[in-house]
Amino acid sequence: MTTHHAARRRAAAAALCAAAVLTPCISAQAAQASSEAAAAARPGEHAQPWRDPSRSPAWRADALLNAMTMDEKVTLVLATNDEDFDPLAHLGIPRMRRVDASGGLRGDTGVTAFPAPNALGATFDTALAERYGQAVGAEARAKGWNVVLGPTVDVDRNGLSGRAAEGYGEDPLVNGEMGAAMARGLEENDVIAMLKHFTVYNQESGPRETLAVDVSERALREVHYPAFEKAIREGGADSVMCAYPKVNGEHVCQNEELLTDLKQDLGLEGYVATDFNPRTDPVAGINAGVDSQSLFPGMPREAFFDGRIPEERTNDAARRILVALFNSGAFDNPLPTTIPDVVTTAEHQRLARETGAAASVLLKNSGALPLSKHDSVAVIGPAGEDAITGIEGSSYVDPGDFTTLAEAVRSKAGAERTTVSQGSLGDVALPTVPASAFTAPSGQEGLQAEFFANPDFQGAPVATTTTPNVDFSGAAPVEGLPAQWSARFTGTITPTATGLARISSLLSGSAKVTIGGETVFDGSRFIWDFFFAPQEYTLGGTVPLTEGESVPITVEYSTREAGFFGPRLTLGWQPESLIPAAVEAAKGAETAVVVVNEFTGEAVDRLGLRLPGDQDAFIEAVAAVNPRTIVVLNTPGPVLMPWLDDVEGVVQSWYQGAAVGTATADVLYGDADPGGRLPVTFPAAEGQGPTHDTGASVEYDEGIHVGYKWYDQQDEEPLFPFGHGLSYTTFEHRQLRTGKLDTRKGEGETTSVRVQVRNTGQRAGSDVVQVYVGHLPTDAVETPEKALAGFAKVALRPGEKREVRIELDRRALSYWDEDADRWVTPTGEVPVYVGRSAADVDLVGSITVK
Ligand code: BGC
Repeated sequence: MTTHHAARRRAAAAALCAAAVLTPCISAQAAQASSEAAAAARPGEHAQPWRDPSRSPAWRADALLNAMTMDEKVTLVLATNDEDFDPLAHLGIPRMRRVDASGGLRGDTGVTAFPAPNALGATFDTALAERYGQAVGAEARAKGWNVVLGPTVDVDRNGLSGRAAEGYGEDPLVNGEMGAAMARGLEENDVIAMLKHFTVYNQESGPRETLAVDVSERALREVHYPAFEKAIREGGADSVMCAYPKVNGEHVCQNEELLTDLKQDLGLEGYVATDFNPRTDPVAGINAGVDSQSLFPGMPREAFFDGRIPEERTNDAARRILVALFNSGAFDNPLPTTIPDVVTTAEHQRLARETGAAASVLLKNSGALPLSKHDSVAVIGPAGEDAITGIEGSSYVDPGDFTTLAEAVRSKAGAERTTVSQGSLGDVALPTVPASAFTAPSGQEGLQAEFFANPDFQGAPVATTTTPNVDFSGAAPVEGLPAQWSARFTGTITPTATGLARISSLLSGSAKVTIGGETVFDGSRFIWDFFFAPQEYTLGGTVPLTEGESVPITVEYSTREAGFFGPRLTLGWQPESLIPAAVEAAKGAETAVVVVNEFTGEAVDRLGLRLPGDQDAFIEAVAAVNPRTIVVLNTPGPVLMPWLDDVEGVVQSWYQGAAVGTATADVLYGDADPGGRLPVTFPAAEGQGPTHDTGASVEYDEGIHVGYKWYDQQDEEPLFPFGHGLSYTTFEHRQLRTGKLDTRKGEGETTSVRVQVRNTGQRAGSDVVQVYVGHLPTDAVETPEKALAGFAKVALRPGEKREVRIELDRRALSYWDEDADRWVTPTGEVPVYVGRSAADVDLVGSITVK
């Protein structure tokens, strides 16, 4: 490992910046740089003085930039692959080798798959987030990477984004605190942390590369920017990836206004890189403030020399990359030349397990939890190797060999007391329905297929055939169709079993499937698969069928909304339900642990909040025979719970990486307290919360009221509020003491809230003290009824009490004034609430702002 001079320097600078307004902070650093630069003119100094690590990053960047030719600067800005950096080696500039790493290293093996970032968000534990960052950073460096694409601090706007699990939830403060801690931990390993994805990237549909979002300046400042600012100023993140969507008319990666805000107001001294294949004009991008083409080449080199890109812009871009290299420590610390196969360690695996338990949210407990190791237990559902460990796409981490939940429970309760039954396959693609199950109207095996030369089934079919099954990909199943077409498949389906059959599709386009007069599913998918994950995105439903009884089936497919891989529809099924066998297993056990799941990830949003496939029916069937049914939600976030009143307990376990079995078993058996609290609101119904518009454009008409703020404003009750989570012990909050805030003392002024927390139960556990501020004393704008202003995680033994002090930034007591283009801190009394969630307040006080 390296010396941590860079990290220490950053921490000192961050402390300085935190205590001052931005402008004096930057100019103080610049002044230091120029005085050091003057001092460097002394004869006899190092031939390449920028190699001197005792100098400040700013000084070194200036010195190196001055020594570079224009050609070298352009090479640095354009460098994407290893060899692109070779012409810069004589200057000491290392290869900048990048890896996606939000929850572990993507694409490598022998690494630690940590619980997904929103699980980390649920821990509300910044010290843990920093350790998680340190571990990911250490593995990155050991595997030969010095630019880590992460953390992601995008706000989860409505729970349906396919990538929701990549960030830290819906609250800007939680995203900022956790993102800062993670970035700090990463950069302690002399790697550059690249924050993702600036900004207003909250959904995948649209599709994401071309989605147009309209958002107010106030929402940008109060909701979508703050986490980036915190992770830059307090976490020392040295680079930022700009996001795909168009925000207020212009793609972020060529949006001068937004990129200028990022650098001038949010404090980024390092560089901006585009996301992969950003669909922007690279020259316009550089001129708007993109500094590096490291993720996606395609920039004409001549543009730097023929006047299209001003020289000062090239200088600035190159300098920003150099600042990041020096500031992070990446310049001074060469990557290893030998890469070990295995970089995960027992300590990192333990950390994943600890994080998993600390992230598990006990949503409901009627008393059955924690389980007794003396009771018999049936573990049912996808609780084996089929558990979902991570998010699909650029965050997916190979978990390697891991202990399954079934194994982990077996080792706690003993093999003799544990039965395992599948019950449901969970959210997976099903085998293609064979031709033998279909009969076309002609009597032939298969289905009749009618093709229309338009996407709306209009007019007479242009072709009619009989097809053995519904399974086409990339191209239309018949020749001669235009780019937009539709098809209707008809016939009968003859079930091979009696019970609840599952039907699923892999879909690019729109499909509606009707069986026996019932709509089994009706929806659209842009694509069915992304990269780097073991599963595909399915769309499907269930239908009760009887063995041997043929029923009519209609499958309507349209190319409408098909994505870049072209049309696809594969119709799969699971004719025989696994639920009855699981019900038998549940009947014979004192407790039933039912695992259900949903697979999500990049490029595809969730279409709704229902658990996919037969899983609701599965839970209901088990709960009907076992009064001690515990549901484990291996899901990216909220789901509807029509069975909630019928079960004894619900644990939200998120995607737990390699800890998917061990951490959940620790929580179920009380070997660890369920430490998680919801970093997102769980809606009570489809459509509750800010809109999810799947069209090409979205209006963020909720303004600043994202997440729990929306629920307060609309006076709506969610299923489970933000911040909710039970423990196996109980906590009491007493003696709220609030400070004052004097606005005359400057932007960096803070105030504090103190509260006494006592563990009033019989077990050790951890509480998350949540401090919300109420409406600000102003009529000029509407402010949230409650906004999280600070939080602290406190671990206490039974009977132990502690006074917790939580600092609140002046920002928490301010709003963005769009007319004046600045933060305003209204003076007067501001209500303060201390609570267990956004909906459960137990202490009320106020802060005087003068
Ligand atoms: C994702 C980024 C990722 C990049 C490189 C893109 O598809 O949006 O988050 O860092 O790919 O893998």
